[in-house]
Amino acid sequence: LKVLFAAFEAEPFAKTGGLGDVCGSLPGALQKAGVDARVILPKFGTIPQEYRAAMTPVADFRVRLAWRDQYCGLETLTHRGVVFYFVDNEYYFKRDRLYGYDDDGERVAFFSKAVLECLAHMPGFFPRVLHCHDWHAALVPVYLRELYGGADKYRDIKTVFTIHNLKFQGVFSRFYLGDVLGLDGYPAAADQLAQFDAINYMRGGLNYADAITTVSPAYAEEIRTDFYGERAQDILNRRRNVLTGILNGIDSSAYDPAADTALYALYTADDLSGKAENKKRLQAELGLEVRDDTPLAILVSRLTEQKGLDLVVRILDELPGENMQLAVLGVGDKKYEDAFSHFAGKYPGKVAARLAFDERLSRKFYAGGDMILIPSLFEPCGLTQMIAMRYGTLPIVRETGGLKDSVTPYNQFTGAGTGFSFKNFNAHELLDTVRRAIQVYSGDRPAWERLMKNAMAADFSWNASAEKYTALYRGLLKA
Ligand code: ADP
Ligand code: GLC
Repeated sequence: LKVLFAAFEAEPFAKTGGLGDVCGSLPGALQKAGVDARVILPKFGTIPQEYRAAMTPVADFRVRLAWRDQYCGLETLTHRGVVFYFVDNEYYFKRDRLYGYDDDGERVAFFSKAVLECLAHMPGFFPRVLHCHDWHAALVPVYLRELYGGADKYRDIKTVFTIHNLKFQGVFSRFYLGDVLGLDGYPAAADQLAQFDAINYMRGGLNYADAITTVSPAYAEEIRTDFYGERAQDILNRRRNVLTGILNGIDSSAYDPAADTALYALYTADDLSGKAENKKRLQAELGLEVRDDTPLAILVSRLTEQKGLDLVVRILDELPGENMQLAVLGVGDKKYEDAFSHFAGKYPGKVAARLAFDERLSRKFYAGGDMILIPSLFEPCGLTQMIAMRYGTLPIVRETGGLKDSVTPYNQFTGAGTGFSFKNFNAHELLDTVRRAIQVYSGDRPAWERLMKNAMAADFSWNASAEKYTALYRGLLKA
């Protein structure tokens, strides 16, 4: 069973968030389940030189897109047993960020068309399933059906479209249909991509794919409602028979407090002394008071509205009074960056903010924290709560999407649980929940340690989910 992932992120080559984790680690888990899963992504200028130098050229050819006729190189590299393919076009991809350019719509269209052209050039590999991720790959099923439908081999390919985040859909002027996508004269495409007077790439993926998945069962339900549906709820309800939620996992060997070279000290659930050492060193590094008795809450996140940061900012004047510390690691919207810098200045020794995207430092945060705040407005899956639990850091989450599916709230009567949660998007519910967590931390250490052990023992490996994806692929091929 040959499956090709098409995505804009896959770590360690390109990552701005959880999409990179998933496309970097799920293929390896699928391989263990007997699937020949490979990945194709753009050859970004930001890919570390060590990997660029190790790539082998496979082929080069032209890709036509509307009136454009462009160079396209195909290169490959095997990493941790998984074959990665890279689409090379320096004009589109040799830039210093992955996204955020005026021509993102054109870059994405080029990539999608190039993916299909590349299929003719992969020696010994022709996928039976194309698994497309997020709006950056949503046009792949559209092009496949509209432009390649007549060719035998292509006709039999099945497509899966995975929603990692419904918020970003790729909405552009209706003139893109002809000028950029080259789909003038394809009335079905015009119809299925249309959103009022604009065109919407993700609608293409949602309408054309044979199966739609998203990254948690709870989010799969939520996105059929008006609150979470981002104007796609109608399509998602119409196609609910092919929509499923499969919870993400994490690479549990890559995130392992007993082996993580980024940490100050290693530890296991049986001997947590190394975790205390990590906390001490992290507090020192961040300029926080070095105190074991003060709980340290961390926040590791893209700084955007999605992550519920308005609630955190709203209660930030209350937290230092609760005898706790907060350490933030993140980049994103200026209003949140400014707010966290402001509070770090206002409460020296108690609040620290590192406005950076730093993989190694993030691991020190996961290991050194006592709790992690994730009060998201919406959360398709969320990986930071899973990573934190693996490091014995208890999540405080809002019960939405994958947070609801992966964190078991503390039950004071049975001692069960892996974290703390609240329901409504309300700053005082967050504050109450933080207070409850502090009470357990400061007032009932044995209970807190039990929660840490529960969290560290929870299984967030890819095994169960890889089986579900495999069953989905096989089901499509049988149909
Ligand atoms: P999202 O994809 O919505 O950003 P996830 O929780 O799925 O959220 O994934 C976030 C990923 O990005 C995690 O691997 C997390 O550790 C990482 N991450 C987020 N912010 C930072 C940062 N500032 N520095 C390093 N890693 C970060
Ligand atoms: C998106 C979502 C996040 C999810 C990740 C990986 O970025 O925001 O919740 O974990 O994709 O699927």
